Parts: sequence; C-alpha cells; structure tokens
Amino acid sequence: MAEQPTSDRATMPKGYNPVLERRTVENGNRNLLKYLKPGLSVLDVGCGSGAITRSIADKTGPAGRVLGIDPSENLISQARQNVGDLPGIAFEQGDVYTFETTEQFDLVTCARTLQWLAQPEVALANMQRLVKPGGHLAILDYNHEKILWEPEPPASMRLFYEAFLNWRTDAGFDNAIADHLSGMLHKLGLTNVRIEPQFELCKRSDTDFAKTSRLWSEVAELRGPQLVQAGYITEAQRLEAITDYDNWIATVGESMTVYLLAVEGQQS
Ligand SMILES: C[S@@+](CC[C@H](N)C(=O)[O-])C[C@H]1O[C@@H](n2cnc3c(N)ncnc32)[C@H](O)[C@@H]1O
Repeated sequence: MAEQPTSDRATMPKGYNPVLERRTVENGNRNLLKYLKPGLSVLDVGCGSGAITRSIADKTGPAGRVLGIDPSENLISQARQNVGDLPGIAFEQGDVYTFETTEQFDLVTCARTLQWLAQPEVALANMQRLVKPGGHLAILDYNHEKILWEPEPPASMRLFYEAFLNWRTDAGFDNAIADHLSGMLHKLGLTNVRIEPQFELCKRSDTDFAKTSRLWSEVAELRGPQLVQAGYITEAQRLEAITDYDNWIATVGESMTVYLLAVEGQQS
C-alpha cells in the first residue's frame, strides 16, 4: 500500500474507536458543563463518532439544537446510528476548513481536534464566525510534550511515543497546541479568554486504571500502522511497545497524567 500524504495524517482509521466512544461531557469535556442547559444551540466540531455530542444533547434536551460535524464519513455514519431518532441532535459530514452554514450557535466546541490540524488559526477563525454575539468558543486540547508517567514507561513505548510526536510534527501538527490556544483566541479578538486545566490523571487505585492508561497501546494499535507505513518505526517495534506497555500497566505502572487544557473565549 502506498504511504499516505502527510495531509491525510489527521484521518481517523476506519472502524470502531473505543477511545472516542468511552467519552462523555462529564469524563471528557467537563469544561462545557457550565454552559449546557435546555434549549442551547451547540456546534461540536470534530465530533468523531458523537459520544460527547450525544452527552451534550442529553443536557440541551429536545428544545436544544446540537450539530456534530466531522470529515470522516465512517464516523458520521456511526454517530448517526448511535443516536437513533433522539430529538435535538444531528450530524453532518463537514470539515472545519470549509464548513458553511448561515446558522450561528450559542456554543461552538472543538475537542482534541486542533491537535490534528496544520492550520489551527484558520480553523479557529472559521469557528469564530459560527458563534452568536455573546456566545462562546470552547477549545479543548493537548500538550503531548507534557505527558507524565509514573514510573517511566518501557523504553519501547517511549520510542513509539517519540515516533508518534515526530510523525505528527512532520505533518505540521502542533504537539504543544494547548499552550498556544489562549494567544490564538486573544488574536481573534475573543473576550474573557480563560484557561481551565483539564488534566486527565489515572492512578493504579482507580477501578478503570487498566482501561484508561491503555490509551497509548490503543494509539499504537489504531494509529501505529500509519507510522509503520510511513517508516517512523518498524512493525516489530510497534508490537513490542504494545506488549511492554500492557505489561507495565499490569505490573509497575502507578499513574499517567495527560496534559489537557480547556481554553474558551466569548464573542463580542
Ligand atoms: C481525537 S478525535 C476527537 C473526537 C471528539 N471531539 C473527542 O474529543 O472525543 C479528532 C477528530 O477530529 C476530526 N478531524 C480531523 N480533521 C478535521 C477537520 N479538518 N475538520 C473537522 N474535524 C476534523 C477527526 O475525524 C476526528 O474525529
């Protein structure tokens, strides 16, 4: 199979994605809770298979309007299937760079998506246009350079992780985007820009430690084949990283802290 162009690196692999489907507003986007109330209109950009979007719609209710957009036909089709005929929620295939509508929303949210874009400032300007006067733009994203494991994960997983960051950098993605968002929102002229740390800490004593800390084995399973194909690691190294990291979780792993910030601003 031919190697993907770097512009395709943001494309989600096909199939069911357990990482996306585990998320809710409460466990994966809690910065939105303060806004959500019945009747609110919300645009969820980069909604994936719509797990968080469904959870938003539970709170905005049938009188609300929740629209999830994502460029992946496969994820939008899963999102539509998962939601059935719940009122007040819809999904559309759409790309943040080109999405057009005459509608404006009380809240535009974009979680864990700008990390996959080579032109985040263009994407932010496009999203800003879709926020009603007085409404909010809420971005949630990572600084992958600031992840912390206790103790250090196996060398094979470190190697995979470094390869993952290099593969992303070479496609023009900002591994530290969380720490650049507030400057970007100020530049757009949004007011009341605020930063809320949303670090995701999982500890061995948590009942779901094995599942949550396994995020990086899941990335190696889902995204890893793309890195192998592009020559960043070998297939043997990818498999070794998964085995060793799963063993770290089962034996010595104590905690993992993922650095995630919610950065929000208001439209004047
Ligand atoms: C890590 S997932 C995040 C899904 C969800 N927001 C969450 O927090 O669980 C990133 C999503 O961004 C989407 N995406 C990639 N490029 C995009 C673009 N140009 N416009 C909108 N969404 C995009 C991907 O298809 C994927 O569903």
